[in-house]
Amino acid sequence: MNERTLVLVKPDGVGKGLVGEVISRIEKKGLSLAALELRSVSRSVAEEHYAEHQGKPFYEDLLEFITSGPVVAAIVEGPRAVAAFRQIAGGTDPVDKAAPGTLRGDYGLEVQYNLVHGSDSVESAEREIKLWFPDY
Ligand code: TYD
Ligand code: MG
Repeated sequence: MNERTLVLVKPDGVGKGLVGEVISRIEKKGLSLAALELRSVSRSVAEEHYAEHQGKPFYEDLLEFITSGPVVAAIVEGPRAVAAFRQIAGGTDPVDKAAPGTLRGDYGLEVQYNLVHGSDSVESAEREIKLWFPDY
């Protein structure tokens, strides 16, 4: 059964030239791209995207960061796409949680600059895809 997830290459990942690497790992895993676009992020999309984190100590910095430069947004699909991309990404903290061999484990150092976003559940994916790709 196909599942869809929302993937972002965040401004740090785009800035470090890791767009190709992220796409390559998605494709090698056997997942496929249903949509792919480079775009800037408005404050309001950022707020909606990260609504669950409103009020947390890192929230303002997170919004500032995600709106600081272009991101690559993608719909990724395949069997168990949500969990499969979270596996490729690695844990949220690139050093304490993400294993070597994951995107964050291989290329990240600080939790705020952890390179990629992937939806955390099928429900989140549906919400996020509606926000980022309303026509899909
Ligand atoms: P979260 O949804 O918990 O992580 P994930 O991206 O793995 O789903 O947090 C959203 C983003 O917020 C996270 O990718 C990086 C940032 N963040 C911080 O800057 N500091 C923190 O302590 C946490 C938990 C997250
Ligand atoms: Mg999350």
